[in-house]
This record gives sequence, structure tokens and C-alpha cells, in this order.
Amino acid sequence: MDSTAWDERYSGRDLVWSSGPNVFVEEIVGPMSPGRAVDVAGGEGRNAIWLAARGWHATSADFSPAAVERARTMAASRLGAGAGRFRAVVADALQPTPAPVDGGGYDLVLFAYLQIPDAPWRTALGHGVDAALPGGTVLVICHAERNLGEGTGGPQDPAVLHDPDAVIAAGDGLPVSVVSAELRERPVDGADRPALDTVVVFRRLES
Ligand SMILES: C[S@@+](CC[C@H](N)C(=O)[O-])C[C@H]1O[C@@H](n2cnc3c(N)ncnc32)[C@H](O)[C@@H]1O
Repeated sequence: MDSTAWDERYSGRDLVWSSGPNVFVEEIVGPMSPGRAVDVAGGEGRNAIWLAARGWHATSADFSPAAVERARTMAASRLGAGAGRFRAVVADALQPTPAPVDGGGYDLVLFAYLQIPDAPWRTALGHGVDAALPGGTVLVICHAERNLGEGTGGPQDPAVLHDPDAVIAAGDGLPVSVVSAELRERPVDGADRPALDTVVVFRRLES
């Protein structure tokens, strides 16, 4: 889907995604000390807003202007005094990741459900890794290919689904080490079985 198609999807009155953070973001990032974070393809900003509420300086970047506008509106109503720690920007994940406002890099680069095929996905991951500080975390969460036959919901096009080994392979040649790579079950309201997500944590190395 291009940005126009995503804009159309975000043009309705209701939120497209949940208003709270992704369960794996909460689990993995919750124990971390706040720093600077960017959520690549951050959509309506649910994860970056949650980060900003916890003291992170958080950027939500998405190529859909409608998503970015919605993230700004949601942040303004939810964050109060913390709104200064949040920004939403229009940015293509296939281009260099926007730097933090005050320069430098990010302690956390998050990819949550960026649904694109392998080749552009590698490009996006490379830009995300470039934007991370040495020692920083690059957290990738996506619908697993195995979700198609064994899980629930999500995109039905296998080209945009990535199992853990495919995400690890996308990191080959990048200055990262793999901290963990798992296939995780995510409960889905009303479904008789959970969704299967890929959750990979990379650590950014010195280049
Ligand atoms: C399934 S949504 C996930 C949104 C958000 N990460 C979340 O978990 O709530 C996928 C998002 O990827 C964005 N997207 C797709 N391709 C992109 C690209 N090349 N650059 C930036 N954003 C992109 C879409 O606009 C959409 O907001």
C-alpha cells in the first residue's frame, strides 16, 4: 500500500489501531530507562505517545500525513505537560530516518508492523540501524509468515510477513547483534486462537 492508500485508511473517524501500546513494546521497553526513541512507520502514534508519557523523547515517523496528523491530535489530548517530549513527522521509512531534534542518534528504534516485502524491509531496517546510537536497541515487531496458517488476522499477503529468521537475515551485514528473536503469541479479542508475531531485538554495535 502506498501513502495515499494509508491516508484513506486513516481518514475515517475511528482509530485504525488500538489506542494503547503494543503488548511487546510494553514488555520489552517498559524496563528500559527513558532516552530518545523513534517509532518508524508509527501510524497513529500509539507507541510513541506511550513512550513520551513514560519520559522518553519520542518521535513517531510515518509516510501518511493523515496518520501523522492523527498522532499529533492524540498526543495533544493525552500527554498534557509531556507533549513537549513528543513529535510526529511525515517520513518515508525507505529514506534516512529523521534525526532527533537535538541531533545525535536514538537509544531506541522501533519498527512495529511495517508491512512491506523483504527488499524494502532491509532498506528500512538499514536506515533504522543507522539512526541508532551504539549500544542502542532496535526492536522489530511484525506479523509472522506463520500467522497465515497458524494464527489470526493480519495481512494475508505472505510477501509482507516475516518470520524471525527472515528478520535476522535482514540484519546480516548491518552493525547489529541479535539479542533475541522469537515467535510470540499475541491474544486477539474475539478470536479463537492468538496471532503469531515476530519479535526481534537487535543491539546496535559501533560501526
Ligand atoms: C500496520 S500499520 C502500523 C502502525 C504502527 N506502527 C502501530 O503499530 O500502530 C503500518 C504503518 O506503516 C506505514 N508505512 C507503510 N509503508 C511506509 C513507509 N515506506 N514509510 C513510512 N511509513 C510506512 C503506514 O502508513 C502505516 O501507518
